[in-house]
Amino acid sequence: MGAPASAAAGRLMVPAAITAVLPGQTATTQAVEITHLRKTYGPVVAVDDVSFSVAEGEIFGILGPNGAGKTTTAECVIGLRLPDSGTIRLLGLDPRTDADKIHEIVGVQLQAGALPAKLKVREILDMYRSFYRDPADVSELLEALGIAGKRDAYYRSLSGGQRQRLSVALALIGRPKIAVLDEMTTGLDPQARRDAWELIEGMRDRGVTILLVTHFMEEAERLCSRVALIDHGRIAALDTPASLAAQARGGKSVRFVPSAPFGDRLLSELPEVTRVERHGQHVVVTGTGDLVNTVILTLAAAGVSARDVQLDASNLEDAFVRLTGKQLTTQAAEATEATEVKEGATP
Ligand SMILES: Nc1ncnc2c1ncn2[C@@H]1O[C@H](COP(=O)(O)OP(=O)(O)OP(=O)(O)O)[C@@H](O)[C@H]1O
Ligand SMILES: [Mg+2]
Repeated sequence: MGAPASAAAGRLMVPAAITAVLPGQTATTQAVEITHLRKTYGPVVAVDDVSFSVAEGEIFGILGPNGAGKTTTAECVIGLRLPDSGTIRLLGLDPRTDADKIHEIVGVQLQAGALPAKLKVREILDMYRSFYRDPADVSELLEALGIAGKRDAYYRSLSGGQRQRLSVALALIGRPKIAVLDEMTTGLDPQARRDAWELIEGMRDRGVTILLVTHFMEEAERLCSRVALIDHGRIAALDTPASLAAQARGGKSVRFVPSAPFGDRLLSELPEVTRVERHGQHVVVTGTGDLVNTVILTLAAAGVSARDVQLDASNLEDAFVRLTGKQLTTQAAEATEATEVKEGATP
C-alpha cells in the first residue's frame, strides 16, 4: 500500500507509489525488460536490436545524441508505438496486450507532449486524474513541483519550465510504479533542474522505477545506477556511470594536486601507469591494477605528497565521445529549443 498522502507534506517529494506486488511478481522482478527491440519509420531504422532490463527501484538512463532513437525506445516501452520486432515487458506485462494494466502502473512524461493551450492547469490535472482509479493528491504534487500558484493559469500562459513541471506532475498523477521521463529537465534553468533531480530521487526512494532519457551527462552521473549509451539506434555501451567513465580512460584514473614539482617519468615508467596528463595544477594518471596506492607511494618516496586526490576523474562525457565519436553537451542547447508539439504525443 502507498503511504498516506499527508506523509509527503513539507518536503520536496511526490506521493507514494503503489508498492503492492502484482500477482505472480516478486521483489526481484525486473521492472522493465526489453529484448531485441527494433523500430523503423519507412527506411529509417530508429531502434536496432536494443536489449536491456531495469531492476525495480533503479534509475536507468538512456543517453545519446539527437536522433539516436531514445524517444522511439521510450515510446515503444509505454506502448505508444508498435515495435517492428522484439519484446517489451513492464513488470511482466506486455504493452501491446495489457494496455489497461500498463496504464495503471506507468507514468509518462514525454519530450514533446501536446496539451491544450486553452485549458487551465487545474482542468488539465482534473482530466488526467479522471484516468486513474487512485490518483495522487494534486495540491501536494503541485506544491512539490513548485507550481501550486499556477493552478488557475491557462496552459498557454505557462513558461517553458512551468510546462515541463506540469508534464512531470501529469506523469506522477497516477502514482506510477514505473516512470518514463523523456528529457524531463531539458529547458529548465539550473535551479529547476536540481529541484527536478531531487524529485526524481524522491520517486526512486519511494520505490518507483525510473527510465530516464537525457542529454545531460551530469544528470545521468548523478541520478542513474546504470546508463545505456545509444547511437544510431544501437546500444554502444551499458554500465554504471563510473565504469563507463573508467572504460573511456582505458582503465582507472587518479587525479591529484602534487605538493612539489616532479617529472612525468617518475609515474609513467610504472607498470601500472598507461598515461600521465597535466591539467593546470592537477595531474591525472590513468592505468590499471593497484594504481592509486602505487602512485601515492611512488610520489611519497620522491618527497611529493598528493593533495585533493580524486578517483575516476573522467566522466561519462569522455565515455560517450570515445564510444561514439560525438559530443553530447552542445546538443543539449539544441534540444532545449526542440519543444515543438509532436502529433500523437499525449499519453
Ligand atoms: N514519427 C516519425 N516518423 C519518421 N521518422 C521518425 C519519427 N520519429 C522519429 N523519427 C526518426 O527516428 C530516428 C530516432 O528518433 P528519436 O526521436 O527516437 O531520437 P532521439 O534519440 O529521441 O532524439 P532527440 O535527442 O533529438 O530527442 C531519427 O532519425 C528520427 O528522425
Ligand atoms: Mg528524443
